[in-house]
Amino acid sequence: MNLVTIILAAGKGTRFKSELPKVLHKIMEKPMIEFVINTAKKVTNEENIYVVVGYKRELVKESLKNYLKLNFVIQEEQKGTGHAVMCCEKSLEFFNGDILILCGDMPLVKVDTIKNFIEFYNNNSLDIAVLSTKLENPFGYGRIIRNNGKFLKIVEEKDADEKTKDIKEINTGIYIVKSKVLFNLLKKLKNNNAQGEYYLTDIIYEANKNNFKVDAYVEEESIQFLGINTRVHLSQAENILLRRKIEDLMLNGVTFIKPETTFIGYDVEIGNDTVIYPGNFITGKSKIGKNCIIGKNNFIKDSNILEDVIIKGFCYIENAKIGNFSQIGPFSHLRPDSDIGNNCKIGNFVETKKVKLEDGVKASHLSYLGDAFIGEGTNVGAGTITCNYDGVNKHKTYIGKNVFIGSDTQLVAPVKVGDYTLIAAGTTVTKDVGENSLVHSRMKQHEIKNKGMKDKLCKK
Ligand code: UD1
Ligand code: CA
Repeated sequence: MNLVTIILAAGKGTRFKSELPKVLHKIMEKPMIEFVINTAKKVTNEENIYVVVGYKRELVKESLKNYLKLNFVIQEEQKGTGHAVMCCEKSLEFFNGDILILCGDMPLVKVDTIKNFIEFYNNNSLDIAVLSTKLENPFGYGRIIRNNGKFLKIVEEKDADEKTKDIKEINTGIYIVKSKVLFNLLKKLKNNNAQGEYYLTDIIYEANKNNFKVDAYVEEESIQFLGINTRVHLSQAENILLRRKIEDLMLNGVTFIKPETTFIGYDVEIGNDTVIYPGNFITGKSKIGKNCIIGKNNFIKDSNILEDVIIKGFCYIENAKIGNFSQIGPFSHLRPDSDIGNNCKIGNFVETKKVKLEDGVKASHLSYLGDAFIGEGTNVGAGTITCNYDGVNKHKTYIGKNVFIGSDTQLVAPVKVGDYTLIAAGTTVTKDVGENSLVHSRMKQHEIKNKGMKDKLCKK
């Protein structure tokens, strides 16, 4: 089958009350039009997709620049859906095949629905097929007018009389049509209707007049055709797409506890036997491996979590890598470029940034580790701070393997500590330290008798 897809996306989306064109508003972190393009890509090659753009078209093109082969067609003024398709004529002048028409604001349409629709068109050797559905409340949609089952025409809500308004079968705005028939019929359209627009829907009436073979295919699951006209619809659509994504993950072996409380970005990948507790927000290009436990209420963005990892909950993790069998949290903050090895432990109120922690490093409590390398098996005591910033520049801390860093140590960067060294609690390390040394910098302890609180608190 020689198929081209046209996606209508020139409208402004007035009801969004937004500076941004409607189709760029995001669902699961992707502009809604991407869902439509990705669906179209399952039935056409990208180079055969034509997106009709108008309102703020530079923004639309810019945000779709990763689709290298996509074609854009400009509709200067929005004179109606028929006019929008007409704008594609020049680009498709030499094309002789079938044209599928989709709307940029209908992200819920399933690939299988489109495939069944195309099959219906092919099996019945039609010149035009319209995808329709039945709605309890059809208000606002174009109605499918049939006579003894034969599909005659579409009448828009604004042009409908009371009897027509009672019809429950509506036009979803999805069509497939022979290219030569389409452009031939579009030339016959007039704009003498309630909205003064060139209605694409009028090609059905024209097709019947010219004895082309026309029919409508009814899809029962009508929620797929929710057109996103307001931010309320946007949020409804996101709930549905999120549910589909999570169910997909479940069917691939991921357990979710109270899934309705968790957000998963479109591109997120999760391995089997991983358990996701309630309240997680996992976004961007995050990847979580097999057999992990993601406890309650974490924010995880653009991070790569390998296998058998436990994130205990209430962690904020961004652009980090976490190795196998490591444990993070609760209440850990992994900032960008935190590279945590295997079997590591990052505990509560530990903040990391631009660090590489080799395997088996433990920082269990209350630390700041920034711009640092920490070797295998090193233990970072509670309250250890890398003093990386001198007020102007950032400096690096290098700590070897199997170092024992006592609690409340400050490492004033740039500084290096050799392997197997023992840093006593409360030490301020300002100079490089060699291998296997004991370092301490504490003041000697003084005790002055009878200078405590007692006199102040216990009146004689
Ligand atoms: C259209 C159909 C209606 C159908 C409904 C389904 C027509 C005349 N009516 O109505 O039968 O039930 O969709 O949702 O086609 N667009 C352009 N350029 C234009 C006008 C529109 O690109 O000049 C784009 C819009 O951005 C949108 C799509 O076409 O993506 C549909 O346009 P819209 O104005 O929403 O049509 P409806 O009035 O909803
Ligand atoms: Ca619409």
